[in-house]
Amino acid sequence: MRVLVTGGAGFIGSVTVAALLERGHHVTVYDNLSTGYRRAVHPDARLVDGELHDFKSLWEATEGVEGVVHFAGLIAVAESVEQPAHYYQVNVGGTQVLLDAVADHGNLQTLVFSSSAAVYGEPLFTPIVESSERNPVNPYGETKLLAERLIEAYADRFDFRWVGLRYFNAAGATPALGEAHNPEAHLLPNVVDAALGRKGLTINGFDYQTPDGTCVRDYVHVLDLAQAHVLALEKPVAGAFNVGGGRGYSNLEVVRAVEGAVGREVPFVRGQRRPGDPAVLVASVEKSRSELGWQPARDLAAMARDALAWRESHPSGYD
Ligand SMILES: NC(=O)c1ccc[n+]([C@@H]2O[C@H](COP(=O)([O-])OP(=O)(O)OC[C@H]3O[C@@H](n4cnc5c(N)ncnc54)[C@H](O)[C@@H]3O)[C@@H](O)[C@H]2O)c1
Repeated sequence: MRVLVTGGAGFIGSVTVAALLERGHHVTVYDNLSTGYRRAVHPDARLVDGELHDFKSLWEATEGVEGVVHFAGLIAVAESVEQPAHYYQVNVGGTQVLLDAVADHGNLQTLVFSSSAAVYGEPLFTPIVESSERNPVNPYGETKLLAERLIEAYADRFDFRWVGLRYFNAAGATPALGEAHNPEAHLLPNVVDAALGRKGLTINGFDYQTPDGTCVRDYVHVLDLAQAHVLALEKPVAGAFNVGGGRGYSNLEVVRAVEGAVGREVPFVRGQRRPGDPAVLVASVEKSRSELGWQPARDLAAMARDALAWRESHPSGYD
């Protein structure tokens, strides 16, 4: 299949591009390289250095395209609170321009969208199922929910299949491709950096109603995530699917996993709770298991090991 991958120079996109190429798909990466890296783009993929708002450039890049995997967007929750307009512009407005461009050609069969657990906000119960109330608590989550709705409306109108993969926390790496966000807001790579003495680490909140008092989150290996995209593109399913590990790990368990990988203690400072951080966010991945035929294969120890190995072999990221 001819597939356009927006954001294919980013963390999850680059790993998915490699998986799609392995399955024999023809891949064009569409990315403005704002947070992604040219060196993360697989040499067998064509790279178009383009902006989501550029209809003409997207129209040219989507000619003959039958599948779209849409990763491109802004991902930092705190930044979305500071700059909501920017987030709506890129994550919702940019998605609309992409949809207009592909709809204009009329070849699109399937669109897979990078959605997020952030669409659920603070859940009333866990594990979270796809039909749980969607009540985002920040502009980032709102933009993901609006983009899902926009895509669903276009899918109805222009008769293509859409799958929204609601990721929980992507982590891990492959030997060649890893997480290089700047600044890095995600826990696991920050624990790895602390383990390597590259920066200090603060764990926020020790008074949650959880076994060790720290927040519990659900992590999924980026290689498992990439596999979910391949299945979503190839299988006749539609709608929203949770993709997570299907179990929770506390912040302290993440620290212990990295300690296990590195073989020494990781120093950290005990910080205050952050406002808006729910105690527990864990996915039910039952729907993905039964309908998509997907299940996570790698545990937290593997994610810690792979993230550490990547950081050690790429001390300056992709620079
Ligand atoms: N990392 C996670 O744990 C996580 C969790 C839930 C959802 N997601 C979603 O997954 C997707 C990918 O996340 P990631 O961690 O790989 O992020 P990333 O920042 O590494 O990748 C995003 C890519 O999109 C590109 N991009 C951004 N704005 C663009 C624009 N206007 N035009 C063209 N390209 C643009 C960037 O250059 C980058 O290559 C995002 O949509 C994010 O919201 C990620």
